[in-house]
Amino acid sequence: MSQKTTEELRQEVGKRRTFAIISHPDAGKTTLTEKLLLYGGAIHIAGSVKARKAARHATSDWMEIEKQRGISVTSSVMQFQYEGKQVNILDTPGHQDFSEDTYRTLTAADSAVMLIDVAKGVEAQTIKLFQVCSKRGIPIFTFINKLDREGQNPFELLEEIERVLGIRSVPMNWPIGMGRELCGVYDRMKNQVELFQGKDHSEIEVRKTEGYNDPVIREMAGDYLADQLAQDLELLDVAGDTFDYEKVRTGQLTPVFFGSAVNNFGVQTFLENFLELAPQPTERKTTEGSVEPDEEKFSGYIFKIQANMNPAHRDRIAFLRICSGKFQRGMSVRHVRAGKEIKLSQPQQFLAQDRDIVETAYPGDIIGLFDPGIFRIGDSLSEGRDIVFDELPTFSPEIFSKVSIKNALKQKQYLKGLDQLTEEGMVQVFRSVGAFEDTYLGVVGQLQFEVFEYRMKNEYGVDIQLFRTQFQFARWIVGDKIDPTKFRINSILVKDKNDVNVALFENEYAMRTAMERMPELKFLEVAP
Ligand code: G4P
Repeated sequence: MSQKTTEELRQEVGKRRTFAIISHPDAGKTTLTEKLLLYGGAIHIAGSVKARKAARHATSDWMEIEKQRGISVTSSVMQFQYEGKQVNILDTPGHQDFSEDTYRTLTAADSAVMLIDVAKGVEAQTIKLFQVCSKRGIPIFTFINKLDREGQNPFELLEEIERVLGIRSVPMNWPIGMGRELCGVYDRMKNQVELFQGKDHSEIEVRKTEGYNDPVIREMAGDYLADQLAQDLELLDVAGDTFDYEKVRTGQLTPVFFGSAVNNFGVQTFLENFLELAPQPTERKTTEGSVEPDEEKFSGYIFKIQANMNPAHRDRIAFLRICSGKFQRGMSVRHVRAGKEIKLSQPQQFLAQDRDIVETAYPGDIIGLFDPGIFRIGDSLSEGRDIVFDELPTFSPEIFSKVSIKNALKQKQYLKGLDQLTEEGMVQVFRSVGAFEDTYLGVVGQLQFEVFEYRMKNEYGVDIQLFRTQFQFARWIVGDKIDPTKFRINSILVKDKNDVNVALFENEYAMRTAMERMPELKFLEVAP
């Protein structure tokens, strides 16, 4: 490879910041995303991202929205440039859109921003998403939002983050007042105060200080708030964690920023600090060892496939995360699982709802590939060599429905659809072992059932019926002597698509009892 290409690649990789925002619904993710896009000049009118979300939720018929938008509800990577950095925000849908896709998308991120509502603290969905990121050991940055409202004491929040999520935290800035009294933040790293002013608080006065006891703060914020700030920061200096980049990089310490997205409080400083501290794309593990992003040869993997809901086009979009090398439109790569060369001719990049044809892209970028049905989730594409990226994790389903077909004559199409959609990672399928074979579908988000039903009808011409069950947990069983009669109360024994025994439980109590009664068996959260 020429010196020039290597250098170009290295520079491009160095510019990339690819991350996901993880949060519980209503914490302000749409708002924060929008503010970040505004800073990046990727959108020009406040409200564009919000409008999209409103449209999404104004109607329960999400298929209609798919058609209007022409691309998936659950998709999207938003890209913009800021101060020389190429920023890729991966959209991780929440609310009813929450699905296994949401989890898988996190594997494509190099870091995560955890958004927390100051009043509500660490909520259920945040915990789940945090755990997925934490398992990968990626850096997690925290933004505590809605400081313009009365919320919990900042110290209590930090304590909660540590207690509930098991990660230490280091505040990068500290609020001066809260709720109606909020007047700004003190930046601990830069030793400066940022005072929020103006009607929409968009004007920010920044003053350098000689530490948090500087009279400037008193002048700007008044005695009461200045005393409070000094007290808090003294305590933090003595008892709080110190900033340690190595710990941040390995996901053991989360830098915490306080702000208010809707008012633009602290968003810009957050963005600037985040872009400085967040990692560029790093090496990725494969079956043949690690692949470095600045390796000449192109490689990447597919983390998500989205069906195009337009019935006139049966095509789908496969989302590919580039892991190494330079992507060029029209290039030929190896589809490793299929064992053949394919040409990447119509790649797309996404900003909110627009699709652009992309000519070149670099590690850390996400591109959408036109998929005539040749890709599966987890597929590796690579230039000139057969590398396979580590398998994408599977997740334990939490919602289960019994599925049946309305018209028995369509059995063949039904089985084909079931098989293909399971293969695609849309749902997990389980079959009971008794005399009557029941089929169960397991998912992590309700929307997956709706999409499944819709696609069965539209792509395979099969009407199905779904009956929601009480089951909440699936455990894969490893062991020799499995007695099905022991899985009768609040539980059932089924087999997954590979004929591995799985127990479904209605509640935690039933699951714990089974584990205690059968200590000779291993109960795993995901397929072995
Ligand atoms: P989400 O994507 O995480 O679900 O949250 P979203 O941004 O839609 O925000 C949820 C609600 O919280 C919105 O109010 C939004 O305006 C509000 N919000 C976001 N950031 C802040 C903040 O910093 N301070 C305050 N006080 N509110 C914030 P809504 O009433 O649901 O919608 P809207 O009427 O404001 O559009």
